[in-house]
Amino acid sequence: MIFVTGGAGFIGSNFVLQWCRNTDETVLNLDALTYAGNLANLQSLEQSSQHRFVQGDIRDSELLARLFAEHKPRAVLHFAAESHVDRSIIGPEAFVETNVVGTFRLLEAARAYWNGLEAADKAAFRFLHVSTDEVYGTLGPNDPAFSETTPYAPNSPYSASKAGSDHLVRAYHHTYGMPVLTTNCSNNYGPYHFPEKLIPLMIVNALAGKPLPVYGDGQQIRDWLYVEDHCAAIRRVLEAGKPGETYNVGGWNEKANIEIVQTVCALLDELAPASERNVSDSRSGTPLARYDELISYVTDRPGHDRRYAIDARKLERELGWKPAETFETGIRKTVQWYLANQEWVAGVLDGSYRDWVQTQYGAKA
Ligand code: NAD
Ligand code: DAU
Repeated sequence: MIFVTGGAGFIGSNFVLQWCRNTDETVLNLDALTYAGNLANLQSLEQSSQHRFVQGDIRDSELLARLFAEHKPRAVLHFAAESHVDRSIIGPEAFVETNVVGTFRLLEAARAYWNGLEAADKAAFRFLHVSTDEVYGTLGPNDPAFSETTPYAPNSPYSASKAGSDHLVRAYHHTYGMPVLTTNCSNNYGPYHFPEKLIPLMIVNALAGKPLPVYGDGQQIRDWLYVEDHCAAIRRVLEAGKPGETYNVGGWNEKANIEIVQTVCALLDELAPASERNVSDSRSGTPLARYDELISYVTDRPGHDRRYAIDARKLERELGWKPAETFETGIRKTVQWYLANQEWVAGVLDGSYRDWVQTQYGAKA
């Protein structure tokens, strides 16, 4: 079996769902169910014996030792993290705790387990660390995209804590010979994305007639990848990546934030016109003709990175991975998913998703 951490979050849950659709191998899913964890994402696996969920913290060394001993995974896929940059600016400590200390404890537990394996299992074991392009810092308009050899220069408490975890993972390979792999991916979007992040926030606010807050001048650039493509890249790296290597993952989709917001508004105008849904501007009560009337420029994020761009050629050249979605197909699917899953959105907005474990799983969880 494989051992996934953070599998109730946005990317982790998409990964678990994709894994179970494509393989028969069991997934052990350890997640603390912070505000970002949502078991409703995994509702379709509720009756499946292929998915075993454990609520717990990656900092809990005793729990980790027990899970490794009981389940004997062949690989760890480490998604669990505090992931939102704005939260890291307001409260950085949780980021150091989970991203640095938590990754360290997980590495230690994995190392103790790995040391006890038979030679063949030891050689086949993998620890795959899911990281971000933000560790490389920010780019100027004409700089080349981040490659695997770009020096680390993290600018936010979030990216600094992820950089710290990347360095620990690297050290466990160089010092102990542990077969680790690291992926550094650009901005993801798609189903089950928590609506504190740009794309889902814009969809959810627009449908409610609320302002669409664009930070600063809206000209910051991110490189967008559909989440299913990221999950497929991780599966490919797990299968064929070379231990000790890092792989950048990206979709060659650089877009300014304001362009993203305009695109979301245009898709909503087409798929869910404000006039048909009787959406009014919550500030004035005036009926909306177009969703982009809600765009509101607000104070910039402190230390806001100007541009990210990923050079994903190594992953393509060495492991043959390429994204399946273009931005146009991926963003349309995403907007359609949010329109079709208003119950999921409502559960997140009213907080009832946090009762999911009790109501849905009871004593099983
Ligand atoms: P997320 O915030 O949606 O989910 C994180 C999950 O980790 C949640 O389910 C949460 O409950 C769990 N978690 C948090 N602290 C924990 C702890 N101490 N112990 C156990 N579980 C804990 O994050 P995401 O967007 O799905 O990101 C997943 C990973 O991918 C992160 O490591 C992130 O840095 C990385 N990443 C994200 C993006 C992106 O665009 N979202 C891009 C590149 C890399
Ligand atoms: O690059 C990968 C990273 O992408 C991941 O490592 C992070 O976990 C993930 O959260 C994401 O970080 P960003 O800060 O890029 O994502 P976010 O959705 O928060 O913001 C995207 C851009 O949109 C960023 O330039 C800030 C801007 N923004 C965001 C919000 C929430 C706005 O203009 N308005 C907003 O309300």
